[in-house]
Amino acid sequence: MINKCLFPAAGYGTRFLPATKSMPKEMMPVVNKPLIEYGVEEALQAGMESMCIVTGRGKHTLMDHFDKNYELEHQIEGTNKEVLLDDIRRTIESAQFTFIRQREMKGLGHAILTGRELIGNEPFAVVLADDLCVNHEGDGVLQQMVKLYKQFRCSIVAVEEVPLTETHKYGVIDGQCIREDLYRVTNMVEKPESGTEPSNLAIIGRYILTPDIFEFIEDTEAGKGGEIQITDALLRQAEQGCVIAYKFKGQRFDCGSVEGYMEATNHCYKNVYLKDKDIVIKQERTEKEVEPAC
Ligand code: UTP
Repeated sequence: MINKCLFPAAGYGTRFLPATKSMPKEMMPVVNKPLIEYGVEEALQAGMESMCIVTGRGKHTLMDHFDKNYELEHQIEGTNKEVLLDDIRRTIESAQFTFIRQREMKGLGHAILTGRELIGNEPFAVVLADDLCVNHEGDGVLQQMVKLYKQFRCSIVAVEEVPLTETHKYGVIDGQCIREDLYRVTNMVEKPESGTEPSNLAIIGRYILTPDIFEFIEDTEAGKGGEIQITDALLRQAEQGCVIAYKFKGQRFDCGSVEGYMEATNHCYKNVYLKDKDIVIKQERTEKEVEPAC
């Protein structure tokens, strides 16, 4: 039902300088996998096959990552290192990747509008790859949202409760509670000043948007920080129709900040990397056990 996922990835990543001076933030590895690959895997798990990436100048490694590297692949062919490419090969084969360049970094809303050519007139997901989301208990966050979209057929934003001292970093919603984890959005403020936040429910980097959002963005003027904010366009959409805020199940790491990135790295090392390794070792042992003894 939702086949396309948009990845705005043109930002400068200034909080991570100097690492991001010539390397896209979205290519920073969490353990052994770049951030954007986690996002693409989450979208694939949610049933999406078309990955639409908004890039900018100096971000060509994003394209290279989702393409073949014949020299490297030839070099390691038949060695025990080939297994390290299993995940990315599977991902490349399972999805189509298209890219468009945002020429001027005018904000997240503008980046999403830049992706319009790739999306067309259909509902789509948006993943901000620097928000790494995991749910070891069940569906990934995007998949949870796709299920909700089937029920509500309107734009959905993922939210999480943050301390009031942190709300100034986020788009913050106010809403009518319609289920313990669902709100019909009545107000949204981008990076509210301390004491003016409508709640402690902060929007994180997962959205499902209906295509009329493009018209709302077109009519949105530059807001906070002189940027075209998706929060402002979503508020207009909420006023004229329906936008749902969903308190997702799982954990989110803000990998755009050094602290969040370190937490994500530790978490994924223990809960993903070591577990996968353990499974591979056990599989190898079992294969050896069943090998004929000649
Ligand atoms: P952020 O504000 O978190 O990213 O934007 P940033 O601007 O790259 O990082 P800092 O604040 O300078 O450290 C959220 C997402 O929107 C994308 C970013 O790439 C990021 O994924 N974005 C932002 C764009 O694609 N274009 C823009 O003009 C702005």
